[in-house]
Amino acid sequence: MASAGTSDLAQKSVSDALRATVRRELQPELDEIGSETLRDQVVEAWAVAIAHTSFTCIGDLRASGMWHSDRLIRGTQADHLRGVAAIALQIAAVLKRQFPELPVDRDILVAGALCHDVGKPYEYDPEKRAQRKAQPSRAGWPLFRHPPYGMHVCLTVGLPDEVAQIALGHSYEGEVLARSPECTIVHYADKSYWQTLRISGLMIDDYTDEVGA
Ligand SMILES: [Fe+2]
Repeated sequence: MASAGTSDLAQKSVSDALRATVRRELQPELDEIGSETLRDQVVEAWAVAIAHTSFTCIGDLRASGMWHSDRLIRGTQADHLRGVAAIALQIAAVLKRQFPELPVDRDILVAGALCHDVGKPYEYDPEKRAQRKAQPSRAGWPLFRHPPYGMHVCLTVGLPDEVAQIALGHSYEGEVLARSPECTIVHYADKSYWQTLRISGLMIDDYTDEVGA
């Protein structure tokens, strides 16, 4: 019989303690979202994503989340998310000053920036990777990449399509889509974050994992 797989996100209970942890990890940028409903959905997305893995909080993930790439000299995935959200807000603010008609929704932008990597706990969960790699003929290998899985998480918790599109399109999957203005900003904020830190010598390549792809 097939396992519950990845479609059981709505079934597993999420504790209020985990929600509170996630809320704390995403501040202060989370509070830049004006809509309380949207703030709660962002928290729910990350809480659900974490609850279905062996991680206990966003801070358990390396900044990149990856098992096979450089790591930051300090910080975690929570710092990365908050950094991308802060950069995205600055890009939008500068462009809005010059072009007030810029069609960027601030709430969608921040929610999308905070959720753009919400699929990473699944893709980089060492337990899921080990299980899947032990039986690659069952569901293929490697695991789903974090952009499509992140879209799945976003839609499961009721986040708007606009935020789910940012999760799906922020990385190279977005090269074959028409990115929204908010997704375009998050894409470049994410790229700026990594490429600037890497070229500045703030990334260290010292990680190995036998369960790597
Ligand atoms: Fe990212």
